[in-house]
Amino acid sequence: MQRREFLTLSSVTAIAILTGCGGGGGDSSNNTENTSSSLTPKNKALPIPNALYGTGTGSSAEPKQYDLTIQSAQHDFFNETDTSTYAVDGSFLGPTLFLRNGENISINYTNNLSEKISMHGHGMHLPAAMDGTAHQEFLPGDTWSAQYQVNQKACTNWYHPHTLHKTAEHVYKGIAGLIIIEDSESDALDLPKRYGEDDIPLVLQDRKFDTNGQIVYNPSNMEIMRGYVGDTFIANRAIEPTFDAEAKEIRFRVLNGANSTVYQLGFSDGRSFKQIATDNAFLETPVSMTRLTLSPAERAEIVVDFSGDINSSLELREYNHGKTFVKINVSKNAQSVTTLPGTLTSLTALGTPVNTRSFSLEGSMGSFTINGQAMDITVINETVPVDQLEEWTITNNMNVDHNFHIHATHFRLVKRNGNTNIAANENGYKDTVYIPAGENVTVQVKMTDYTDATVPYMYHCHFLEHEDNGMMGQFTVV
Ligand code: C2O
Ligand code: CU
Ligand code: CU
Repeated sequence: MQRREFLTLSSVTAIAILTGCGGGGGDSSNNTENTSSSLTPKNKALPIPNALYGTGTGSSAEPKQYDLTIQSAQHDFFNETDTSTYAVDGSFLGPTLFLRNGENISINYTNNLSEKISMHGHGMHLPAAMDGTAHQEFLPGDTWSAQYQVNQKACTNWYHPHTLHKTAEHVYKGIAGLIIIEDSESDALDLPKRYGEDDIPLVLQDRKFDTNGQIVYNPSNMEIMRGYVGDTFIANRAIEPTFDAEAKEIRFRVLNGANSTVYQLGFSDGRSFKQIATDNAFLETPVSMTRLTLSPAERAEIVVDFSGDINSSLELREYNHGKTFVKINVSKNAQSVTTLPGTLTSLTALGTPVNTRSFSLEGSMGSFTINGQAMDITVINETVPVDQLEEWTITNNMNVDHNFHIHATHFRLVKRNGNTNIAANENGYKDTVYIPAGENVTVQVKMTDYTDATVPYMYHCHFLEHEDNGMMGQFTVV
């Protein structure tokens, strides 16, 4: 443990030297101190976000209605004091929206904050005008509705603000929630699907709190550059909560909901588990692993088998920072048995691209560009023909980590650093891909179904401090 801490500090120092930004607006040597040490986290069972199934039939005449209120709130992270937050309906984060493929929906967001906001459906395949980017911001007191027909495979997506230059702060204060899409294929699979019992949503985040238990969003230039990483790790709005598990297969739908922290997840007893889904679909077959790396906004569904583990305890840990996300007690008898299938779905194979594009991620202290251009809401950077298979190569030309997210549809990874041997658990439908310092990836992407010559979608780094400071571009589908 001490050796790990030492390595972390020395690599921070190395990055500081390499990027030439020692002090900046804050003292980076304070970053790993626990500023909230005088406060004690409230002892909680793992909170399960409320499930919203919508009202209405889901026909085109009667879309299912999901009403959400974005508001200021007070949340009980600590015993001693409440924390001022932003939230969706409750006091931190928001409910889980259950959607079915083919249904018509209307997600109605009401802004009860005192500032403008936008709300984006991350991973959703939808018309650009319904995407919820900075082109669809709405004012205090207003309601904005994302109305469309669900048109994609079963997966775990999420919603979060996409306010121009404010996304990072809005997410940090607590606005985000999961979207679970089911379809006839997921219905037929023998998977854990009792929500909150053996099908467990996990929104993983980290935060900085001040000595009064208040959320601090005040990144220095150094932290904007290398990541605004908190000392307090949170799962579903609680600090190190406890999950009482049934002794059976448990499915976790894991979202890296951090602003800029890459998580390396695993269980404290080193047990293996199986990844069954990437961002936008099931994998074709489960992939066995002991550690799972997720960069911000990536999702993974995993199944871990606790069948033989009644009365034992373990932890879901984060190994890049040596933190515990969830304490797990296998304390309940199985209420039903599931047996993970060997085949989960079939995915569209790679094809022969008819066009290529390249994107270079660059920046210097506190400001970032893609292909030399910082995000400009008035500029359409790329025009992409609908139904055309393209290969996009994204190169991280910096010595800090990035990732890359494309709106509107999923993509497939074809190369990492020129190597076509894609890791089995990345060989699926993705909308966000991790690109460590100095590396590059090539993806195949095809825009389908929706065209709009004027309203753009976006592509960007999903390290939110990078996105807010320029590392984003816009494209239309025509
Ligand atoms: Cu999750 Cu453009 O966003
Ligand atoms: Cu998105
Ligand atoms: Cu980045």
